[in-house]
Amino acid sequence: MSKITAHSIPALESQLDPPPFSLSELYHENTKLHPQTAQELIPSGNFTPEDLQAMSRAYKQYPNAPRISLPAAENIPPDSRSFDDVISSRRSFRDFADLDMTLDELSLILHQSYGITGEMTGLDGSRQALRSSPSAGALYPAEIYVAVRKVTGVKPGIYHYNVPNHELELMIPGDPTESMFEICCGQEFVRKTSIIILMSGVLKRTKLKYGERGYRYVLLDIGHLGQNIYLSCTALELAIMTTCGFFDDQAHRLLRLDGVDEAVLYVAFIGRRQR
Ligand SMILES: Cc1cc2nc3c(=O)[nH]c(=O)nc-3n(C[C@H](O)[C@H](O)[C@H](O)COP(=O)(O)O)c2cc1C
Repeated sequence: MSKITAHSIPALESQLDPPPFSLSELYHENTKLHPQTAQELIPSGNFTPEDLQAMSRAYKQYPNAPRISLPAAENIPPDSRSFDDVISSRRSFRDFADLDMTLDELSLILHQSYGITGEMTGLDGSRQALRSSPSAGALYPAEIYVAVRKVTGVKPGIYHYNVPNHELELMIPGDPTESMFEICCGQEFVRKTSIIILMSGVLKRTKLKYGERGYRYVLLDIGHLGQNIYLSCTALELAIMTTCGFFDDQAHRLLRLDGVDEAVLYVAFIGRRQR
């Protein structure tokens, strides 16, 4: 099967004559699974069980950062609303009240969206943690960063969510409002939220196993995670609104990410609803 390559797009040389191909079509076409090319596209067949085991334990951690323990989800009183009620009332809210949220609420959002909720035993008897969100190959390529403006008892700053320890790791101390305002293309919502979640995809983690097609999987993983965050906020009666309006490389510079192996893919504003 012949592949379309970037070199076969002559119109890319001219600004006045737009190319007949779109980059997304080019990518999608070249990452389709076909019976003849599946082996070539997905390198996972070449991994040993030990390789796969190591990949499935890839947690990002900042061991030298000051940390804040999050309250265990099982110690926080459960929501009494029915699942049907939460699903049917889920909406994007844009009227933020500029008030504090609690550490319990933040803990629940993180646990319910990406926390460890189970485990499975591999063929070799080893244990692997499973999370509240599904993930291609259980590789969990998403990382969650939280810009804290107003959370009771937590100093403003930018934190990383350490999943296995259910902790926040402080990366950048201080009020993140102005830097987030710039990164989020001047969206005024930033000035009234309690927290802003930035979610990255460690593209390398999933592409190592699934090759170029893995990029699709990372986006799908992040979408699942985004819906979990929405539902968690809805159950807590918090306002949430997601946005793709952010300057990618400014976000990477702030979080000290290379933007290639790990790239920011999703931003969500969360806070109290204006009553
Ligand atoms: C990927 C994505 C990006 C979005 N970006 C924005 C945005 O930049 N600004 C905004 O006001 N809403 C944004 N939204 C929210 C949508 O406008 C909203 O989900 C849609 O209008 C349906 O409304 P609902 O979420 O209240 O059901 C985004 C939603 C998604 C899933």
